[in-house]
Amino acid sequence: MRSLISILELSVEELDQLISTAKDIIAHPENYWDKCAHKKLATLFYEPSTRTRLSFEAAMLELGGTVLGFSEAGSSSAAKGESVADTAKMISCYADIAAMRHPKEGAPYVAAQAASIPFINAGDGGHNHPTQTLADLLTISREMGRLDNLTIGLCGDLKYGRTVHSLIEAMSRYTGIKFVLISPKELQIPGFVRFNVLERHSIPYTEVTSLEEAMPQLDVLYMTRIQRERFDDPWDYERLKDSYILDTPKMALAKEKMCVLHPLPRVNEISVQVDNDPRAAYFRQALNGKYMRMALILKLLEEAKENPVKDEIDTTDLEYDRVCHNPKCISQTEQELPQISRVTDKAANIHRCIYCEKRT
Ligand code: CP
Repeated sequence: MRSLISILELSVEELDQLISTAKDIIAHPENYWDKCAHKKLATLFYEPSTRTRLSFEAAMLELGGTVLGFSEAGSSSAAKGESVADTAKMISCYADIAAMRHPKEGAPYVAAQAASIPFINAGDGGHNHPTQTLADLLTISREMGRLDNLTIGLCGDLKYGRTVHSLIEAMSRYTGIKFVLISPKELQIPGFVRFNVLERHSIPYTEVTSLEEAMPQLDVLYMTRIQRERFDDPWDYERLKDSYILDTPKMALAKEKMCVLHPLPRVNEISVQVDNDPRAAYFRQALNGKYMRMALILKLLEEAKENPVKDEIDTTDLEYDRVCHNPKCISQTEQELPQISRVTDKAANIHRCIYCEKRT
């Protein structure tokens, strides 16, 4: 049995298989109507969501299963101080599979370690969002007809935008991928993506500040919202919030065959006039998320049936004597958690927290 906490836990073959299952669900939905009969999905959302929570719930209902859960921490016993680990143990008594969104980075990882059912990371702080990446991959595959040999522009808040981190991790494993990272200097991608993924695997990337200059070379433009809720200083958000606005004149600079993605919600970084452009794929992307979550639920439940024993964690290069100083890490609020780091680069002596991946 396994959970899905990071997109890197799925091989490229598994990603391709999930995409293939999702396409089969789209073509033959009636074949899947009772695949999850008598199974329950718990949605544990400690942070707001429209697409992720409701598409998970729609996915389980369309598979013939049922759903239970909460949509804000205040209506769960987290409000009384219950830990993530204890909550995960409780949910294991009531559901067969769970999806968790949490503002603390690493919370779904902690839940998966404590649970006896598969847990899915539905977004943890500014860290990862692997099921959004599943939606993104199906969308790129359907819009462009391939997942290789693409120039992908990622624009906006690359520091806090968790969907960007997971998408770079996933796409870096396909051949012929180049990234153009478009952001203000203050919102560039964090070290765990830059060094662990791009630099380590020698993936070609450039960093620019101008969206206009980048537009003509892109096959995929991935716009993101500036993540107001992750800023420590509200004035920084005010200063940066309108850094990029995709509008009709900028779309005129783009290739005829390309697509615009956005995990949504948007604030004002894509003008509504762009919605009518056939290259605007972001609402189709949200629908694709439901099909990929159906495929993922099927896969994880099937694996749990075949092997109900939880996969062991990889203990290679773990260290227990270093403290994580990221205030957004789950280890900062759940005091009983051991501080654990992993050596990710021996030559450079780099250690990263196992929960949030920040350097310790
Ligand atoms: N894309 C995404 O995660 O949207 P929600 O916050 O509405 O779930």
